[in-house]
Amino acid sequence: MTASSTGRAAIIAGNWKMNYGPREAAKFVQEIQPALSEALQAPGSPLCILCPPAISLAAVRAVLDIPDAASSPQIELGAQNMYFEEKGAFTGELSPNMVHELCTTVILGHSERRTYFGETDELVNKKTLAALRHGLRPIVCIGENEQQHESGETAHIITIQVRASLANLTSEQAREIVIAYEPIWAIGTGKAATGEIANNVIRQIRQEYQALYGAEAASVVRILYGGSVTSDNIAEFMAYPDIDGALVGGASLKPDFINIVRNSRQVHH
Ligand code: PGA
Repeated sequence: MTASSTGRAAIIAGNWKMNYGPREAAKFVQEIQPALSEALQAPGSPLCILCPPAISLAAVRAVLDIPDAASSPQIELGAQNMYFEEKGAFTGELSPNMVHELCTTVILGHSERRTYFGETDELVNKKTLAALRHGLRPIVCIGENEQQHESGETAHIITIQVRASLANLTSEQAREIVIAYEPIWAIGTGKAATGEIANNVIRQIRQEYQALYGAEAASVVRILYGGSVTSDNIAEFMAYPDIDGALVGGASLKPDFINIVRNSRQVHH
């Protein structure tokens, strides 16, 4: 069974992190758009979400010629972070409404936000609820670090992160969010998890989610893998039934991202 037979539409999201200001971002998207759009026409193609730095969103959007954030083009845009308040004296932050003007999606709780900017599960939960209230699709990131991985604490850490970061959703919201399992030891290291390891943890996330929100929500929520995904290993991850796509960092900055989209296609048996 592949993810396609679960009825969950796959997602390939590119997290550009702090790379490509407006000029470079526009140039890169001009370069990849024709082949990327063509690749996305094939049956079984994923939803593709590009997540440039916030300052480059408008430039990317202009190149993609997206008429309206609410419409659903082949390529959607996502922000990499936002704050949970509506507006006001929060220097340097973006509100959910601001993000919603240009994006359908927002990545929340990425491990780099948690590690370098002190984001906690509680803060990630507030942001998740705010995103949902404003019609944004959150991609909520969770994952254990290397030491936790090696000392066999993954299941415990995942349980805590799921319960705290994803608390207090309504049953409808519980179906809409996207979760990304990103083991920190696999991010930017070139040492991706195996499909089997990723699928096992993702299955556990789904079980934990089921305990919180029931079997129906757990069967429709999409859970992505992230960490050193490339065009060479994406097919291995997609072949596992619980893995519904990928959050791609470094490899989303190159034209080879198009091959990740191509090689992620779900084969109907
Ligand atoms: P990577 O990053 O693909 O460069 O490992 C993934 C991520 O941090 O989302």
